[in-house]
Amino acid sequence: MSTFTIDTSTSRATPSPVPGKRMTVPSIRSRKLVEGDGFRTEQPIVMLTAYTMRMAQLLDPHCDMLLVGDSLGQVIYGLPSTIPVTMEMMCAHGAAVVRGSWHALVAVDMPFGSYEASPEQAFASASRIMKETGCAAVKLEGGEAMAPTIEFLAHRGIPVIGHVGLTPQAVNVLGGYGARGREGAEASKIAADARAVDQAGAFCIVVEGVLEQIATDVARSVSAPIIGIGASAECDGQVLVTEDLLGLFERTPRFVKRYADLASEIGQAAAAYASEVRSRAFPTADQTYRPKS
Ligand code: KIV
Repeated sequence: MSTFTIDTSTSRATPSPVPGKRMTVPSIRSRKLVEGDGFRTEQPIVMLTAYTMRMAQLLDPHCDMLLVGDSLGQVIYGLPSTIPVTMEMMCAHGAAVVRGSWHALVAVDMPFGSYEASPEQAFASASRIMKETGCAAVKLEGGEAMAPTIEFLAHRGIPVIGHVGLTPQAVNVLGGYGARGREGAEASKIAADARAVDQAGAFCIVVEGVLEQIATDVARSVSAPIIGIGASAECDGQVLVTEDLLGLFERTPRFVKRYADLASEIGQAAAAYASEVRSRAFPTADQTYRPKS
């Protein structure tokens, strides 16, 4: 399905003839309904990461939300973790994804160091991200400690996605990227974090890398939609790093399902091109300019 034409004079992705209306924060939030003494989401929320205009164009028709994740540090920039990711990176990629989409709600990760010091610092960073990218929401990592910041932002017009469980920006504290919640105290802490972020006003919450039962319990007991990654099929939605599901990396975490094997296809295409350049089989008459007859 083609949803865009590219205006090469401005390089902007222009919505196709009848653009739809973007998903909104209330439309995402309202997917989760009160049922009995718990909560239920009939239609799970589909979220994928995107960092570039073209990938956003391809993913947009299929997703409710596109996340410009700070995982771009590793995926795009080859950094060892998300910690060195800068505001400039997030703003540049966030703007590209907004330009490449018309349907999905675009959320941009707040990079490490841009929001933890105070609610005021978080407001300055989040408002910059929203102004420079046109995104509708920001995501930040942390549970109870970040609740006052989330409340501060939410009360000032900034929709926030929470992120609890395995929080990659805290890798140096956690000691690695292993699943969280194997011990009772940690399981209770993850649930308390989700509750705090929910009560602070996050409109949805990413729960990453936790034991399945913890994610299921959190999804059923917290009012904001829970978006799982390495969590549980009972979550209110799922998110994956797109490059992982496309099979662009040799190794992926256990919770990733590969839906394609693009690394092999790219390798084969590059090898065929290299071989044809070396044998002068490329370019042929079809790819060269000749005088018009
Ligand atoms: O940075 C990211 O891509 C994320 C998702 C994995 C949830 O935070």
